Amino acid sequence: MKYAKLTLCSEYKTGEIDRRVFGSFIEHLGRAVYGGIYEPGHPAADENGFRTDVAALIKELGVPLVRYPGGNFVSGYNWEDGIGPAHLRPRRLELAWGTTEPNTFGTDEFLRWCAFLGIEPMMAVNLGTGTPDGARRLVEYCNHPGGTYYSDLRKKNGTEKPYGVKLWCLGNEMDGTWQMGHKDAAEYGRAAAEAAKLMKWTDPSIETVLCGSSGWGMSTFGDWEATTLDIAYDHVDYVSMHQYHGNGDDYLENFLAKGVETEGFIKSVIASLDFVQGKRRSKKRIDVSFDEWNVWYHSHGAEFEKWCEAPHILEDIYNFADALVVGTMMNAILRHADRVKIACLAQLVNVIAPIMTENGGRAWKQTIYYPFYFASRYAGGTSLLTLSDTSKYDTKWYSDVPDVDMSAVMSEDGNELAIFAVNRDLKDAITLEAKLLEFDGFAVTKHIALEGNDPEDINTADEQKVSPVEKELPQLDGMQLKAKLSPMSWNMIVLRRIK
Ligand code: AHR
Repeated sequence: MKYAKLTLCSEYKTGEIDRRVFGSFIEHLGRAVYGGIYEPGHPAADENGFRTDVAALIKELGVPLVRYPGGNFVSGYNWEDGIGPAHLRPRRLELAWGTTEPNTFGTDEFLRWCAFLGIEPMMAVNLGTGTPDGARRLVEYCNHPGGTYYSDLRKKNGTEKPYGVKLWCLGNEMDGTWQMGHKDAAEYGRAAAEAAKLMKWTDPSIETVLCGSSGWGMSTFGDWEATTLDIAYDHVDYVSMHQYHGNGDDYLENFLAKGVETEGFIKSVIASLDFVQGKRRSKKRIDVSFDEWNVWYHSHGAEFEKWCEAPHILEDIYNFADALVVGTMMNAILRHADRVKIACLAQLVNVIAPIMTENGGRAWKQTIYYPFYFASRYAGGTSLLTLSDTSKYDTKWYSDVPDVDMSAVMSEDGNELAIFAVNRDLKDAITLEAKLLEFDGFAVTKHIALEGNDPEDINTADEQKVSPVEKELPQLDGMQLKAKLSPMSWNMIVLRRIK
C-alpha cells in the first residue's frame, strides 16, 4: 500500500528562505543573450534591444537574481572587450563553446537590463585566463563612485552612478579540466583568495562565492572544498555547487528519483564547509550558492557550425517528466533553506531554459517553467521541517526513494502555508495525509497540479500541453489534511488563515 504522511508545525522551522534561491543564469552561450534576452530589431525589442516579451515572462517567473556572464564562457572572457562604443568592440573566438563572440552585449548592457527588470546581478570574474587584477578592475568599474580611471570610464560609457553589484563569483567550475585556465585546488584557492581580497579592498560591501566542485561525481569532491576553502576562508562568503540531472537510459523510475542525489549533494557540500569551519575553529559560517542546477540531456550531441554566432546549442526541449524532477530539486533547495542561500536555475532563456524564443518571433514557457514559477510565487517566508514518512521504492541506482517528495513553506506574515509534493509513482495516486500542528484557523484555498500528461509531453510556441490545473480543494478536518496526489504529478496545496 502506497502512503505519504507529513507532520508540519508552525513552530518547527528549518530557516528563512533567502529570495535569492529563486535566481537564474544567463551565459554568453548559444541564444541566451543574442536572440534571447537581447535582440535589436525584434518587434518586441525596446530602444536598448531588450526583448520585452521575454522580459515579461522573466518577470512573471519571479526571478530576483541573475548570474552572468558564465559559466564556462567567463573563464576566457576579457570584460573590457564588452564595454564602450559597440562598433569598436572586438569580435573574439569564444573557446568554451567554439563560437564567435561579437561583444555587442557586455557589462553595461547586462546591468542596465537587470535594472530594467528589477533583478539583482550576480557577476562572475574570470579566474581561468584572467587575473585578480582584472577582477578588481571590474569591481572598480561597476561599483566605485568616481574619480578613478575605471569608475570614470563607466561614466564616459553612460552610467553616472555606480551599479553597486553586491554578489561576485570567483571564476567558474575551476576543478574541471574543460575549463580554460583550469587549476588544481591549491592554485585555485590562492588565486581566488587574492582576487577576493583585492575585490573587497576595492568595495568592502561585496560578497564573494568560491567555486566548489562542478559536480558530485568529480573525483576531487570534498578534498577540493577542504583545500580551496581553507586557503580562501577569510575572503569568501559562499561556496558554489552545480548539478545537472541527465536521463541516459530512459528508465523513468530511476530518472524521477534523481532528486535524492540533489538532497545528498547539498548535505555533503554543507558537511565539507562545516568541516573547514570546525578545523579552523572559526565563528564564521560559509553557506551554499547552488548556482547551476537543472535537468540537462536532450541536446547532448547536437551539432552546429563551428565559430558561428549565437547558434542553437543546448536548446533542451523539456518534457513532463523533466518538470517533475525540477520540482524535486526545488523541494531539496527549500528543505535546506538554512544553508542554501543562493540558487540559480541554469539557465534562463533558450539554453537549458524555462523560456524559449524564436529569432524574430514568439517566446513561450517550457514545462519546467511551472514548478519554478509556483515556488518563486508561493515559497517566500520560512521553510518548515518536513517530518515525513512515505512508502519507498528501489531502482538500479537508488534505494529507499520516497514515493512522495515534499517541502513546506510558511509565509513571512504566518498567514499562508504552501505544501509542495511530487508523486513519483507512475501508476498509483497516493493520498497525502498531513497533520498540521499550530495552524488553527487555516483553510485550504488552492490545489494546483501538473498531472495527467505523458512523460514525453512537451510545450511549444503553439501549444502548452503541460500546464497547471486547478484541482478540487483537499479536505481539512481539524488538523488533518487529506489530499489526493495523482500518479506522476507535481502539486502545490495552499492554506490561508481565515480566522
Ligand atoms: O550551464 C551550462 C554549462 O554548464 C556552464 O557553462 C558550466 O558552468 C556548466 O558546466
